[in-house]
Amino acid sequence: MRIVIVDSYADMSVTAARLVRNAIVERSRLVLGLATGGTQVGMYRELVRMHKEEGLDFSGVITFNLDEYLGLGPGDPTSYYTYMHENFFNHVNVKPENIHIPDGKTLDPEATCRAYEEAIAAAGGIDLQILGIGVNGHIGFNEPGTPFDSVTRPVNLTRSTILANKRFFLSEDMVPRRALSMGIKTIMNARRIILLASGRGKARAIAGTVEGPVTCELPSSVLQLHPDVTLIIDREASSLLRGRYRVQGTEDSPGLAAEV
Ligand code: GLP
Repeated sequence: MRIVIVDSYADMSVTAARLVRNAIVERSRLVLGLATGGTQVGMYRELVRMHKEEGLDFSGVITFNLDEYLGLGPGDPTSYYTYMHENFFNHVNVKPENIHIPDGKTLDPEATCRAYEEAIAAAGGIDLQILGIGVNGHIGFNEPGTPFDSVTRPVNLTRSTILANKRFFLSEDMVPRRALSMGIKTIMNARRIILLASGRGKARAIAGTVEGPVTCELPSSVLQLHPDVTLIIDREASSLLRGRYRVQGTEDSPGLAAEV
């Protein structure tokens, strides 16, 4: 696991966008797994800037989003579909047919999830998966207790996630209780993973992810078992790490970079 500790949310966003850019430059037909949440907004903003000002070309990129609220979709201001289009897809040249987001409006969630797994396999698997992290260590919407062999499926959200995400809704009652989410196994099958975290609220989850036991009670801890994971975290999110991390600056990590 490579840990990149940066000074600020802005540095985290730029660092992550540069790694995504490098991956696209290396492989124009990149299969890119995408995440939502407040954490990712700055990275999308920087990728849009790279597209508009530097000509970063997304025309070959195939995207798969991690999750969607069950019951929400296009036309719902709080759906992840809307988030992705407003923050990213409407401003870059990803081909609409290459965009995949679980269909939260489906009448057959199980079949939709099976088809999603098949679409990922048909695309050749995910080359690079971007992740955020919940305060309870969830990745995607894989809540504590999720088995590590889980694949894309309908899930129930925990109270902690409903409370954390209510800020995006008019009231707590309006936060959907269920979602469709890639599973832990789906995520772990990605060839490379980048996880972003910002702020003190994520510090406990990050400490457990890096230094805690691998347990399904903290889903993100499974990442210790993946061969190619980079955490890009700001100082606040890193504040409960106990280990001493070696400073190791690189061109793509403007802050302190360290490796465990
Ligand atoms: C949601 C998403 C996760 C995301 C998490 C963190 O629950 N399903 O994929 O990682 O929120 O969100 P934020 O970045 O807003 O803290």
